[in-house]
Amino acid sequence: MIYASLLAADKNNLEKEIDSVEPFVDGFHIDFMDGLFVPENYYDISVVKKTWLRTRKPIEVHLMMHNPEQHFEELVNEGVERVIVHYEIMRNAIERIQMMEEAGKYGINLGIAYNPETHITEALTDYMQIMTVNPGKGGQRFIEEPLGKISSRRYIEKMFPSARKAIFSADGGINAKTAKAAFAAGADIVVAGSYIFKAKDRVRAIGRMRNTGKR
Ligand code: DX5
Ligand code: ZN
Repeated sequence: MIYASLLAADKNNLEKEIDSVEPFVDGFHIDFMDGLFVPENYYDISVVKKTWLRTRKPIEVHLMMHNPEQHFEELVNEGVERVIVHYEIMRNAIERIQMMEEAGKYGINLGIAYNPETHITEALTDYMQIMTVNPGKGGQRFIEEPLGKISSRRYIEKMFPSARKAIFSADGGINAKTAKAAFAAGADIVVAGSYIFKAKDRVRAIGRMRNTGKR
């Protein structure tokens, strides 16, 4: 599946941007940041509202921030399908359990994002987003090593039976070629921003990712 990351879309023309790709993607990915976990600071709920009004496809929100739970209620009220928080912001098992409890309280489908350097040592939820760039901005170069976490999903699933139906996604630096590598490693979803929205022909760009790189 292909999710379009709206970080690379023109926010002043959001509706048009969404419409230009909506029929061709499987969902939308919205990135928010707190200026602490990552340098940029950006949180705008109107992006979620506008996206929800434009599509019935799933919307996932990737919170690159500390204390992401402060946004859970608002996001779930806006119809977000999945909220992704970073593994790195939770310092210990208690904080991880508290995060899952907070998500449970609001009926949130929680995903966990892992930075390129972070190893998967436990399966907290059944959605794992493998960062293939260091989080924080679009248009960065793909880092290949983290794909190892996806190709070892068989072992992760063996070690953590709760992860057996896990969805693995790759986020960052995705284009036709790297999408091919991610799908070959076993990714279910690739998240692409710049490759879609900076393309002259967006529909074609999406098609190229779907052909898993037949060029
Ligand atoms: C990066 C974000 C990504 C970003 C991907 O920190 O989490 O979702 O939008 O953008 P591209 O596809 O440009 O690497
Ligand atoms: Zn993201």
